[in-house]
Amino acid sequence: MRMLFILFAVALGILLLQTSCKHDPILPKEEMVPIDTTTNPVDTMITNPVDTMQGQPCDEDKVYFEKDILPILQSNCAFSGCHDAASAEDGVILDSYENVIATADVEPFNLEDSEIFEVLIDTRETERMPPTPTSRLPSDQVQLIATWILQGGENLICDPEANGCDTIEVSFIDFVEPTIQTHCKGCHSGMVPSGNIDLSDYANIKSHVESGKLYGAISWEQGFVPMPQGLDQLSDCTLEKLKAWIDDGALNN
Ligand code: HEC
Repeated sequence: MRMLFILFAVALGILLLQTSCKHDPILPKEEMVPIDTTTNPVDTMITNPVDTMQGQPCDEDKVYFEKDILPILQSNCAFSGCHDAASAEDGVILDSYENVIATADVEPFNLEDSEIFEVLIDTRETERMPPTPTSRLPSDQVQLIATWILQGGENLICDPEANGCDTIEVSFIDFVEPTIQTHCKGCHSGMVPSGNIDLSDYANIKSHVESGKLYGAISWEQGFVPMPQGLDQLSDCTLEKLKAWIDDGALNN
């Protein structure tokens, strides 16, 4: 009888151990939550959750700083003379998550108090950003920045290639145009496009595809100036998709 009790106790112990193990995954998940910018906007201790969250597929409803917001800031604001680290106009540096949080008045969940958003929609031509004569950011980019703030202004990370890289029938409208808008248009549109390369619409993009310059520049081929200038190369999957679109005839599809 006593033996049976011990056996029972051991079995119960094992059972308990197992159920408690089931909770284990919750812990690392909680650790993955990026910094809480509500309580301490300049606490940048865990700014780079790359190690813990990489490999997770992107959630279409979420805005990811590195993937969606940083390239917009880099190609529209973080230049020399404006908001790169060396120039830091008005003390604002827009070249990384840490610097954006520390200098650009991001008030999580609150658009009105977020200077970085307010300047985009300021109706006064003398106050708005980017300043005249540069055109305003397109409304979908403004919307994306708004959504990022309303979702808490976090530095969420995901892996756009977690489910593989789909290079079949790459669409100009759904992929090429938004990619160029995010990574290139800040410099390559308007009255004086950088390097005299205008990438503001299909016809212009196509002409630089046909000259071989566009792919030469983004693939960092020798003999071309590496693009996006001064920034990281586009991801492997983005390059593969652009290449597939070009190889399929660079259609306006
Ligand atoms: C921060 C500004 C900036 C961004 C962002 C940028 N470019 Fe450029 N780009 C330039 C400048 C400046 C030049 C002229 C460089 C030179 O002639 O030395 C240039 C030149 C080029 C050229 C001509 C290269 C050559 O060797 O003739 C191409 C093509 C080009 N860019 C495509 C792109 C594409 C595509 C993107 C986005 C993936 C992009 N650029 C992003 C600033 C930028």
